[in-house]
Amino acid sequence: MSLILGIDLGGSSIKAGVVDASSVRLVGDIHAVPTPAGAPLAETAAALASLVAHFPECTGPVGLAFPAVVSHGVTRTASNVVPAWIGADAAALLTAAAGRPGYVVNDADAAGVAEMRVGAGRGERGAVMMLTFGTGIGSALFVDGRLWPNTELGHLMIDGQEAEHLASGRVRTVQGLDWPAWCERVNLVLARYHALFCPDLFIIGGGVSERFEEFGGLLRSQARIVPAGLRHAAGVVGAALYASESARD
Ligand code: BGC
Repeated sequence: MSLILGIDLGGSSIKAGVVDASSVRLVGDIHAVPTPAGAPLAETAAALASLVAHFPECTGPVGLAFPAVVSHGVTRTASNVVPAWIGADAAALLTAAAGRPGYVVNDADAAGVAEMRVGAGRGERGAVMMLTFGTGIGSALFVDGRLWPNTELGHLMIDGQEAEHLASGRVRTVQGLDWPAWCERVNLVLARYHALFCPDLFIIGGGVSERFEEFGGLLRSQARIVPAGLRHAAGVVGAALYASESARD
């Protein structure tokens, strides 16, 4: 059994968990630490090192799901983290913090890949869009199970503002929106995404997906809508999967 550490950096917490790479299952509990405000590089590196030290049973590569465009280990955007991440070699930072090979992938792409492999998207053909509702809105687009990476649809303008400024999980909390008010906004976002990409299925993930039973019935689209099967663990599992597959290449 090959145990790989997956880490998911969110706006409020950095979650880590051990994944059995052969069954693509989380083994044991997720351990989380608070995200240093804005995730400055040095503080983030220290937090990553402490998370790695928490799981001594994992000695192989480490995967990190990060909330930005990630191209060949380099972070290219910084919407919800400090601007110093733009152009930073995140994979090198992770590798140095972990003391072994580190691989970095966009957080929604990681979650989506995990969902397509072992979660709500398993066996789904056609166009599938995974969306994560957390500090921002993350997107991952699949055609017949293959990912188009870094789609960044949370920044699509809807009614004069970015989708994630209208309807992220954070906006719901900060503005004190009840489920009907928030879902009305999410439905606008889903309608726009459907008009442009016509997915057959939306998978709803991110922190808020833990509470899908409370709001899922209020969501509307021409496409099917399902909650992430792995719920908030999807990013951790996807990050580990990415590390495991990248290390093998
Ligand atoms: C970032 C994306 C990320 C999403 C969810 C957006 O602000 O630009 O890269 O996937 O938030 O964290």
